[in-house]
Amino acid sequence: MTAIQETATAAASGANATERFKSDKFAGVAGTPPERVSLLAREVLEAVHGTIRKHKVTYDEYNALKAWLIGVGEDGEWPLFLDVWVEHVVEEVATEHREGNKGTIEGPYYVPDAPERGARGSVPMRDGEPGTPLTWTGQVTSTDGSPLAGAKVELWHADADGFYSQFAPGIPEWNLRASFTADDSGRFEIHTVRPAPYQIPTDGACGKLIAAAGWHAWRPAHLHVKVSAPGHELLTAQLYFPGDEHNDDDIASAVKPELLLDPRSVDGGEAIEYGFVLDPERS
Ligand code: DHB
Ligand code: FE
Repeated sequence: MTAIQETATAAASGANATERFKSDKFAGVAGTPPERVSLLAREVLEAVHGTIRKHKVTYDEYNALKAWLIGVGEDGEWPLFLDVWVEHVVEEVATEHREGNKGTIEGPYYVPDAPERGARGSVPMRDGEPGTPLTWTGQVTSTDGSPLAGAKVELWHADADGFYSQFAPGIPEWNLRASFTADDSGRFEIHTVRPAPYQIPTDGACGKLIAAAGWHAWRPAHLHVKVSAPGHELLTAQLYFPGDEHNDDDIASAVKPELLLDPRSVDGGEAIEYGFVLDPERS
């Protein structure tokens, strides 16, 4: 680990994730009818009330909750908190109708408009980028089996120290982030390096909860992707490596058996073959 990366803090990566979310994501839900807002807000609050009654929550515990919630905001950790402990159920509900790949959570570290590398190429990386070189080939098809020429495969992942460019300091802007465009057969070939398991920041409010509850802070090593093609539903997924000790207890509950890779050793690294099936958009 370099000296620069050691200065990565929850507050800094959290603030970056919060700013990124505010600038990109929130198109708003202004048209939501008050009945829907009322229903959802009431039922969430009722679930909280039920927990307080069931476990006879004390004033000290209530005040600890208040202090902790204030801390989550101050550390910019709302994106991290929600993506680790809530997003996986939203994803489950959003994709349950799909016949093709269902995917998994996006997490807080996606950045749009990464450098374009065509159908075959390497993600941007530093000279001597640490980590086992990985060659990934695959095909994007529709649910009827037809290849999706021109499908976009956006890839982003942590480096061999578990850090994401643009969220940890000292890493070039687009390191280990790129966009690929499938060829006429829907195929692509990506050269990157194997990421390390990722520990969610332990020095912020989320870390305090993890420590106080006696949990661990780990996600298994993973590659993030967004796969898209005209007329098809966007697929957001992550791919995992067999044998990772956190595949079975991912803190973000985002591992699914169908997202496990099957790497083979090749000269100078590893090779994987993994493709995607996209559902046509519903009319
Ligand atoms: C978090 C980080 C990730 O890399 C991810 O995939 C999901 C969640 C997080 O820190 O919240
Ligand atoms: Fe991640």
